[in-house]
Amino acid sequence: MPETTRKPIITVETITNLENGDLHELCDATEVAIEDGGGFGWLKPPARKLLEDYWRGVMLIPERVLIVGRVDGVVASSCQIVRPPKNNEAQKFTCQLTTFFVAPWARGHGLAPGMLDEAEAFSRSEGFKTITLDVRATQDSAIRRYEGAGFTRFGTHPKYALVDGDYIPGYYYFKEIK
Ligand SMILES: CC(C)(COP(=O)(O)OP(=O)(O)OC[C@H]1O[C@@H](n2cnc3c(N)ncnc32)[C@H](O)[C@@H]1OP(=O)(O)O)[C@@H](O)C(=O)NCCC(=O)NCCS
Repeated sequence: MPETTRKPIITVETITNLENGDLHELCDATEVAIEDGGGFGWLKPPARKLLEDYWRGVMLIPERVLIVGRVDGVVASSCQIVRPPKNNEAQKFTCQLTTFFVAPWARGHGLAPGMLDEAEAFSRSEGFKTITLDVRATQDSAIRRYEGAGFTRFGTHPKYALVDGDYIPGYYYFKEIK
């Protein structure tokens, strides 16, 4: 079958170690997503060493859980589930989905719904009852994915982000885990 007609193999997993080339692929994917305006917090890709340290740091923080998506085995997407801090007994039922992106070259293959399914499955397995998230109001594709996955918008922050001197609103969502 010619390469152009072959369907890419999409896989998604919750990982506890960045093995072999994973760290480098994750940094590559992060850089192109940030350059594309990916809403990952960074407005410009940081120095490579800082990015590597960031991902190594994520693996060390007990409250953070990393989910990665791959296209044909190459890391192309990530998101994190953040558990509440131990002192927050009143909110121990809820976790947060953050830093979700798919590298531009991997978009349009349905990776996003798979990532959101994995994030929900992991949250359920940990006993969480709800997931919250927030997103810039300009991230139309992400908003479609979140609403398509059953997240309910419950608020708007008019000064959520500051990009090139302009404030951008942000939307807040939650989903009950059944
Ligand atoms: C939001 C984001 C994660 C979506 O990733 P994605 O993997 O491309 O999402 P999907 O593949 O599910 O969908 C993308 C489009 O392709 C379509 N699509 C999905 N599978 C498809 C397939 N097999 N064939 C054709 N089209 C397909 C979807 O319907 C969707 O179309 P739409 O935007 O017109 O509704 C990605 O655009 C992204 O990283 N954006 C920047 C970062 C961001 O906004 N992050 C969230 C806030 S922090």
